[in-house]
Amino acid sequence: MPIDSPRSIVVLTGAGISAESGLGTFRDKDGIWTRYPLEDLATPEGFARNPEFVQQFYNDRRRQLRDARAHAGHEALTRLQKAHGAVTLVTQNVDNLHEQAGADDVVHMHGELAKSLCSNCGRRAMCDEDLHMDMTCPQCGSVGTLRPDVVWFGEIPYHMERIEDALSACDLFISIGTSGAVYPAAGFVQMARAVAAKTVELNLEPSENAYAFDDALYGSASTVVPDWVDRFLAKAV
Ligand code: OAD
Ligand code: ZN
Repeated sequence: MPIDSPRSIVVLTGAGISAESGLGTFRDKDGIWTRYPLEDLATPEGFARNPEFVQQFYNDRRRQLRDARAHAGHEALTRLQKAHGAVTLVTQNVDNLHEQAGADDVVHMHGELAKSLCSNCGRRAMCDEDLHMDMTCPQCGSVGTLRPDVVWFGEIPYHMERIEDALSACDLFISIGTSGAVYPAAGFVQMARAVAAKTVELNLEPSENAYAFDDALYGSASTVVPDWVDRFLAKAV
């Protein structure tokens, strides 16, 4: 049955939407956190213990981004945003593939690899170079305070107020390529349900909170996302 013309849509994406662009996921077989210890590479404590090791990890990931290309799934979400208008596109991804596909106003709740942050003065700047601990912040002059502008475990995700406002006003919530293992994002489906929004999961396989969705389509993002978006825009889902 077609979804009754929703006015306001929230889309949440995770690593699965970028998997076919060559950027690894975290918890799948061969995922980043199965090869590297999360507590060493994605916590403030890990950074304090071995900052140059952590910088190197994110420098490598930033370099990987230069060759990564958005695919038909990212493009379909841009199409949805342009055709429908009221779409808040929230991503847990630190890559820039939604932007590469032409999306507007992407809400990066876990930050962005393409930005640096000074932990002393809070300056954020676009960054396409490697970061090292001997660098000086151009704003406050501190040495060794520049870090990737990504949110680590134990830190507060960005833009939460805006995301919660969008969720509390949405009538359709779509979760794409995320395992549902990391809060607060894993709780968004319940927030959408609380306001009686329809909920849809597009993923390679059922996520940890698959039970909470009204509808689901399983397969690779480059196929299922364009399929679903095109049917939605044709008012067939
Ligand atoms: P995960 O690695 O936890 O989950 C990726 C999801 O994508 C899984 O459910 C896969 O089944 C699915 N998937 C894999 N390949 C896919 C494909 N080609 N098409 C569609 N789906 C596919 O990644 P996230 O849920 O994004 O946070 O992880 C959430 C957060 O945990 C990340 O933002 C990151 C991580 O630690 C921080 O670093 C703070
Ligand atoms: Zn500074």
